[in-house]
Amino acid sequence: MQIVESIPALRETVRRWRGNAETLAFVPTMGNLHAGHLRLVEEAKQLADRTVVSIFVNPTQFCAGEDFGAYPRTPERDADLLKAAGADLLFMPQDDEVYPAGAVTKVEVAGLSDELCGKFRPGHFRGVATVVCKLFNMVQPDVAVFGEKDWQQLTVIRRMAADLNLPLRIVGIPTVREPSGLAMSSRNAYLSAAEKRQATALYRCLSQAKAALEAGDRNFAGIEAAAAEFLLGEGFRTDYVAIRRAEDLALPTPDERSLIVLVAASLGRARLIDNIKASL
Ligand code: PAF
Repeated sequence: MQIVESIPALRETVRRWRGNAETLAFVPTMGNLHAGHLRLVEEAKQLADRTVVSIFVNPTQFCAGEDFGAYPRTPERDADLLKAAGADLLFMPQDDEVYPAGAVTKVEVAGLSDELCGKFRPGHFRGVATVVCKLFNMVQPDVAVFGEKDWQQLTVIRRMAADLNLPLRIVGIPTVREPSGLAMSSRNAYLSAAEKRQATALYRCLSQAKAALEAGDRNFAGIEAAAAEFLLGEGFRTDYVAIRRAEDLALPTPDERSLIVLVAASLGRARLIDNIKASL
């Protein structure tokens, strides 16, 4: 596996691959890799001849007071994991190449970015859309692979790719969970052993909401309120529990057949997000 830290070096390799008519899949990450990321790499390898993974802790998607400085950075371990997983190239760009001096251009996916997590993390999705668009321009993949755990992020990126006519396919991969049901996340590193046990309530709460929806309950507000109350009882500080139309996160009508329940809640110093789909 090649490790590359500059855009010209990345472009040289990509040009060589393209010269051999090879296709390219891309997995953007912020590092501190876990089994969920490795599942994305595994899928990327099925989708194209070459797999590029990026590690870049993107400063512009962290809000004031968030954990940018403390975000776990484990580049050597990540490189070993990616090599073992069969990635072809690890791209680790420097801040000043991603955001050249004087950079002011941003990508704004209006509306969608201001709801749900966007309400609690103002500017977060602008930072995500901007960096992902930049990374797409650097790597120029045929296909990019994202985890479904951050469903709102995936929805924002799909919208951006469609709106900007980006010449690539976006693929979402189902969330990888611990045997307890807890979704894999780099931020699980912030949980103590006791909090990790407590955190399994998140998946239980989502499963209960899904069961209610699939049993025909259409009192969306009632299901959301019951889930929020359950989480409060389990010691969470809940930002939201929301039932939305899965495809675009619009507010659902009672006859909607493809729903998603999304949750964001904090335990100790970890803010966790998760979701579950309900098909009717
Ligand atoms: O999901 C992430 O790890 C990040 O938001 C992403 C997509 C790599 C952009 O920085």
